[in-house]
Amino acid sequence: MENRKDLIAIINKFFDKKIVNIDDLIEDYYSQNETNLKRSECILVVNSFLRYAHEFDQIIDKCTSKKISKSNLIIRNILRMALVELYILRRPNYAVIDSWVEICKQKKRTKPFASFTNAILRKIINEKNKIKISTQHKIPQWLWMSWKQDYGVDVANKITEASLTEPPLDIYCHKKTKLDDKFIEIEKNIFRKTKAGFVEDIEGFRKGQWWVQDISASIPAKLFSNIKNQEVLDLCSAPGGKAMQMISMGAKVTCIDSSIQRVQLMKTNFNRLKFNPEIIIKDILNWKSKKTFKYILLDAPCSATGTIRKHPDLIFLKNKNELIRHTKTQQVLLEKALSLLSVHGQLIYCVCSIQKNEGIKQIDRLLKKFKNIKRVPVKKSEFTQFEKYITKDGDIQTFPYMQKPGGMDGFFISRLYKEY
Ligand SMILES: C[S@@+](CC[C@H](N)C(=O)[O-])C[C@H]1O[C@@H](n2cnc3c(N)ncnc32)[C@H](O)[C@@H]1O
Repeated sequence: MENRKDLIAIINKFFDKKIVNIDDLIEDYYSQNETNLKRSECILVVNSFLRYAHEFDQIIDKCTSKKISKSNLIIRNILRMALVELYILRRPNYAVIDSWVEICKQKKRTKPFASFTNAILRKIINEKNKIKISTQHKIPQWLWMSWKQDYGVDVANKITEASLTEPPLDIYCHKKTKLDDKFIEIEKNIFRKTKAGFVEDIEGFRKGQWWVQDISASIPAKLFSNIKNQEVLDLCSAPGGKAMQMISMGAKVTCIDSSIQRVQLMKTNFNRLKFNPEIIIKDILNWKSKKTFKYILLDAPCSATGTIRKHPDLIFLKNKNELIRHTKTQQVLLEKALSLLSVHGQLIYCVCSIQKNEGIKQIDRLLKKFKNIKRVPVKKSEFTQFEKYITKDGDIQTFPYMQKPGGMDGFFISRLYKEY
C-alpha cells in the first residue's frame, strides 16, 4: 500500500476534529491534496479502520504492558491501521510492519516509538490466534449496554456483529434499468449488489433511473394506504430518498428541511431524477401552514444507530448526551407533525435508530398524551414480505442482522391516525 501517509493523515484529522463525518473529511482531503490513492481504496480502508478500531484496541492493550496514553493517539492510529492491513486486507506481515516502522521513524513525534511499534506488531502476529475479544468489547460500552438494556444480551451481540460488517448496496429503481447480473431483486423495484464500487459509475445512475436506498428505508412510504395523486408532507426530507420514492409512487410531495447544505444535495438528487417537488427550507418548528395534510411522513433526526454498517464513523461521533438531545427533538417534531395532520389523516413516524428511546418509547408517550391519536397496526396480510419485522404492537422494527444475506439498516416505523 503506497498511500499509507494519506490514509493516516485522514484518520488523524478525523480524530482531531471528531465532529466531522468521515465522508466530508475524505471529500475535503481529495479537494485539497494531490494523491494517487484511489477513492474506493480510501473508503474501504478508512471504514475498516473505524469498524475494527475498538476490537484492535483490545488486542493492542493485551499485547503490551506499556500504556499508550490518550494523547498519543497518533501511535495508536498507526497500530490500528497496521492491524487493518494485516487482518482485514490480509497483506504480508513483514512488509506491513516494516512500512509502518519506517513511517514512525520519519517524524520527530513518532520516531521514539519505532521500535515499540515493531515489537508490538510482531507480538500481535504471534499471539493473535490465542486472543479472544468478546462481542461486547467491539463497540463503545455505552452503546452495547443500551442495546442490552433494550433487547437482552443475545440481540445486543447480534446487532453488534452485524453493525460491524460491510453492507451491500441497495438501489430503488424508478425506471426499468439494465443492471449488471450481479444485482439481485430483493423486493419490488429494489436491487442489491455486494461490493458495488463507485456508485456513480453504475448503469442508470447518471440517467436518473434509480437512487441509493436501503430496503428498510423504503418501508415507511409503503405504509401509507394509497398516495397516488395525493398531497404528502415530507417533514425532514433531505437528502430526499423517501421523497423520491413517494414521487415515484405518484404522490404530490412538499419537502421541508432546515439544512441548506442537505437541501442542496436533495436538489441535485431531484434534478438527476427529473423530479420537481415543492421544497421549503425552514425549521419545521417555526413553519406555519394555512392548511392541514392528510398524509405526513416524519423521518426524524436521530442517533442513526441502525446505520453503523454504512457509517462506521458514528461509533466515534455519537454519545449518550446526543441521544438525549435527539429524543427531545423527536418529541417536539412529533407534536408539531400532529398539529399539521388533518382529522382522519395518517402520520408515518420513522427513525433509522434501534434505540427504544427514539422509537417505541416516543410512540408510547405520544399515544398516552394525545387521546385522539391511534396507532394503525401494520398487518401481516398487508405486507407478507415484512412479516418478520412487525412488532407485537403493529410497528415495524428492523435490525442490521435481518434480511440475509447482506443485512439491512435498523429502522423503527410507526403508523398513526388522527381520530378526531
Ligand atoms: C433522517 S434525516 C432525513 C432523511 C430523509 N427523509 C431521506 O429519506 O432522505 C433528518 C433530516 O432532518 C432535518 N431536520 C432536523 N431538524 C429539523 C427541523 N427542526 N426542521 C427541519 N428539518 C430538520 C435534518 O436537516 C436532516 O436532513
